[in-house]
Amino acid sequence: MENHLLEIKNINISYGDALAVCDVSFFVDEGKIITLVGANGAGKSTILNAISMITPPVKGEILFSGKSLAKLKPEEVVDLGISQVPEGRHLFTKLTVLENLELGAYPAKTRPYMKESLERAFNLFPVLKERIKQTAGTLSGGEQQMLAIGRALMARPSLLMLDEPSLGLAPIIVEKMFETIRTLNSEGITILLVEQNVHQALEISDYAYVLQTGTCRMQGHCEELLTNSDFRSAYLGIMGVRI
Ligand SMILES: Nc1ncnc2c1ncn2[C@@H]1O[C@H](COP(=O)(O)OP(=O)(O)OP(=O)(O)O)[C@@H](O)[C@H]1O
Ligand SMILES: [Mg+2]
Repeated sequence: MENHLLEIKNINISYGDALAVCDVSFFVDEGKIITLVGANGAGKSTILNAISMITPPVKGEILFSGKSLAKLKPEEVVDLGISQVPEGRHLFTKLTVLENLELGAYPAKTRPYMKESLERAFNLFPVLKERIKQTAGTLSGGEQQMLAIGRALMARPSLLMLDEPSLGLAPIIVEKMFETIRTLNSEGITILLVEQNVHQALEISDYAYVLQTGTCRMQGHCEELLTNSDFRSAYLGIMGVRI
């Protein structure tokens, strides 16, 4: 049997009686960048929240390094090495850049590395060092996204899940965001990416899963999907993305 870093097996996720995700399976291998694409409401964020055990699946199984995440609390998932940068960033806007970063290092085993982790975040995003005492709410959109990623990295994840990191950012900042994701991956962090900038996301990814109304409709190597006419017309077209 193959050993995947993350394996999602036939999961259903519900909000009350409403089934938002139905029988979805996929896996993420160590060292890869895997992307989930799909229109609004397809279930992308719901799946990331399930992996983080914020909305645990009602059926199926999620395995990380072969171990089931069932019954774990969200903070225990972070302890295992999975960090999520949520859609909309969810920063502590009244707290400073430094305080937001420090809060990211809440897993006990990461605290001894606080200084090293801060240095790493500032190397990756020098502007955060310049704004260290500024409250997060006063940062630009791009800087807030950098801080959200920096905060997630403080927990020293082996798997980083990014939910729409380019949302609402100017094109030049979007470019930088994708470069940063590539850099993090080259440093050994496995990435699970959710993006509506489909073309750019697929260009930096190894493999993608295409979701539609809670189910996985298509999957493939990114270079194959980008040249697949069904994919281009059905998915890139639906999402109004220029390619
Ligand atoms: N807290 C919630 N309560 C009830 N239904 C929800 C909740 N969050 C999401 N849903 C529903 O679950 C489905 C999947 O939503 P989800 O947010 O996962 O989609 P998404 O693919 O991330 O979309 P987007 O691209 O807009 O972020 C949608 O039908 C949505 O209305
Ligand atoms: Mg979403």
